[in-house]
Amino acid sequence: MSLLPIVTLPDEKTLREVSKPVAGIDSHVKKLWDDMLETMYRAPGIGLAAIQVGVPQRLLVIDLSKDGEVKLPLFVANPEITWESDARSDYEEGCLSIPEYYEMVTRPAEVKLRYLNRQGEHAEMHATGLLATCLQHEIDHLNGVLFIDHISRLKRERVIKKFQKAQKLGKL
Ligand code: NI
Repeated sequence: MSLLPIVTLPDEKTLREVSKPVAGIDSHVKKLWDDMLETMYRAPGIGLAAIQVGVPQRLLVIDLSKDGEVKLPLFVANPEITWESDARSDYEEGCLSIPEYYEMVTRPAEVKLRYLNRQGEHAEMHATGLLATCLQHEIDHLNGVLFIDHISRLKRERVIKKFQKAQKLGKL
């Protein structure tokens, strides 16, 4: 496994790209998933989409296990949300592509999705709690959407400017 560089703001060109479905699960997809997982653990983070390492394919990794617990990686390809609850929940979200920035985001509290699992089989999931939020955050990435798109325009513009300025100053 190898660590991959994570794309961050202000590189919106990459982060705004819409990722393409994978044709199936082959050794290349598995290798990418493994590298993404390693990269995510190292960051550390709880979710990562392939576009965050510059690959525009509809692939995610998630692991919500806590430090010191047995790792529980979830590998997801071509996810499609088929249902979302009317009930909403708020979580303070962050993103490895927007380091050190956190904001409350409101999303459906539960979702159902269809996806391809690591074995290349069609699978379904009913996600609640943090998993539901994390899945929606990562699926957003596949559509070029960032969590800051769910907050006020003023806050969004402020954080984007902050990263543009940091880049100009050579701090990124
Ligand atoms: Ni993210």
